[in-house]
Amino acid sequence: MSDQTQVADAEKVARQRVHKYAHTFSAEQKEKLENYKAWATDYNTDVTALQYTAPKHCVDLILNAVNKHSEISMNSSVVDFCCGTGLVANRLRSVGFTGPIDGVDGSDAMLDLTAGVYRNTFCQFLDPGKNLPEMLSSSQYDVAVMAGGFGPAQVDAGCLKHLIHSIKIGGVCIFSTRTNRCNSEFSKKLDDELTKYVHCDVIVIDELRNIDKFELSSFPEEMKETRYIPGVAYCLLKLKPIKE
Ligand SMILES: C[S@@+](CC[C@H](N)C(=O)[O-])C[C@H]1O[C@@H](n2cnc3c(N)ncnc32)[C@H](O)[C@@H]1O
Repeated sequence: MSDQTQVADAEKVARQRVHKYAHTFSAEQKEKLENYKAWATDYNTDVTALQYTAPKHCVDLILNAVNKHSEISMNSSVVDFCCGTGLVANRLRSVGFTGPIDGVDGSDAMLDLTAGVYRNTFCQFLDPGKNLPEMLSSSQYDVAVMAGGFGPAQVDAGCLKHLIHSIKIGGVCIFSTRTNRCNSEFSKKLDDELTKYVHCDVIVIDELRNIDKFELSSFPEEMKETRYIPGVAYCLLKLKPIKE
C-alpha cells in the first residue's frame, strides 16, 4: 500500500470515529463518557490523522502569556481542563515548561492514559450547575487551559466560569473551540459568556487567535465544502473574581 493510501485510510477511519464518539450532539453525561471510553486508546492516532491543532495553539498562547505577563512564567502552576490523554501537558514539557500541571477530565478511561504526566488528576465532569472540588475552584492556579473541550457535544459554554474561578487574579485562562458552521450556535453562546465577563471587568481578552486549519473536517454536512475547519483560541486575563 502506498504512503498516500495509508494516510487516506487513517484519515477515513479517524473521521468515522470522531464523528461517532465526539460529535454526538444530544449526548448525556453517561453517553459522552461511554464514547470516550470506547475511543480512548485510538484517540492520539485519530487526532494526529486529522491534523488536530488545539493543543499546539493553546500552548503557543501560554508561551505568549509567559512573554507578556510578569505573573506568568515557565514555572507557573497550570490546570489542564478536559486534559484527555495529556497532549497539552506533554507539549508544555517538550517546550521546557517546569511548573506543576494538574489534569481534569470527566473520563477515567482517558485519564488512565496519562500516567506520569500530571501532578494530580481529577476525574470530574464539568457542568455549569455543579460546583468543582475546592482545589479547582479556589483560584489557586496561574493558568487554566482547555484545548478541544468547549463544544456542543462536550463542555457547555456556561462552564467558562469554572475556568475563571480556578485561576488567581493576574492569571490567564486559555481555550479553543471550533468555529465551523455546525458549531455556530455554540460559538455564539460562548461569545455571550465571554462578553458577560468582559462587561463586568472580570476578564479582558488578552489574545484572540483565528485558526484557518484547526483540523480536518469530520462533519459529513460540511466535508464536501471544506477540507479543513476553522477554530479560534483565546487567552483571557483575570482582573477580579466573578460575583455570583
Ligand atoms: C477532544 S478531547 C480533548 C483532550 C485534550 N485536551 C486534547 O486537546 O487532546 C475532549 C476531552 O474532554 C473530556 N470531556 C468532554 N466533555 C466533558 C465534560 N463535560 N466534563 C469533563 N470532561 C469532558 C473528554 O473525556 C475528553 O477527554
